[in-house]
Amino acid sequence: MNRSELFVHYGKPLVFLLCLMPFGVLIARGASGALGPNPVEAITHFTGDWTLRILLLTLAVTPLRRLTGQAWIVRYRRMLGLFTFFYAVLHVATYLWLDRYFDLGSIAEDVLKRPYITVGFAAFVLMVPLAITSTQGWIRRLGRRWKTLHRAVYVIGVLGVLHFLWLVKADLLEPAIYGVILAVLLGLRVPRIDIFARVRSARNRRPGIASEQR
Ligand code: HEM
Repeated sequence: MNRSELFVHYGKPLVFLLCLMPFGVLIARGASGALGPNPVEAITHFTGDWTLRILLLTLAVTPLRRLTGQAWIVRYRRMLGLFTFFYAVLHVATYLWLDRYFDLGSIAEDVLKRPYITVGFAAFVLMVPLAITSTQGWIRRLGRRWKTLHRAVYVIGVLGVLHFLWLVKADLLEPAIYGVILAVLLGLRVPRIDIFARVRSARNRRPGIASEQR
């Protein structure tokens, strides 16, 4: 088996296990009592962080493919997107269940009165249709509309970073780092500053390469 066959064969299970690792760490910390004095807060922070990290990884797939020309990278996008949703469900469930004991009154008050919760809630609500329509059947059924719908992932990214920026009281460094990564990933999508297209056209203009391609 050569290297690319190895990737095709074992890549998906490997990425699956890697994405599951934070969950394993969380369970291990919970089981060994290593979640600190406020376990609910620790779980909320841990799952919130991993939602945002895997979301940014999902958004990095297309730029990485264009940068490297490696089409196989795209095979991992759906799995990464679904793991983003998995950690978001854990994050929101921790809040609804362990933090608010499903007290609908206090949840509604939070969503309406605390801007960072409003923004997080909006991001989560937007994630639901994307997770539901991530199957081949929905891709076929929605046709071109699927792509338009899934552009909401950028809005989710912006809302996720805003949610984080809004909730931190003093140290803005961590949310700011996520914000810069998101800005770079979004910037790469703007056609006018599409550096990949520029690299490609510069390459095509070079006479040596043009004649090689002929
Ligand atoms: C209904 C939706 C959501 C609710 C109710 C919610 C609630 C919370 C709460 C209560 C905290 C802890 C705040 C604190 O300790 O001061 C938090 C932190 C966080 N949430 Fe959310 N969240 C939601 C959705 C999201 C989504 C969709 C993302 C990511 C895209 C996200 C990412 C984060 C991050 C990164 C943190 C900070 C973690 C840290 O401090 O290290 N949240 N969220």
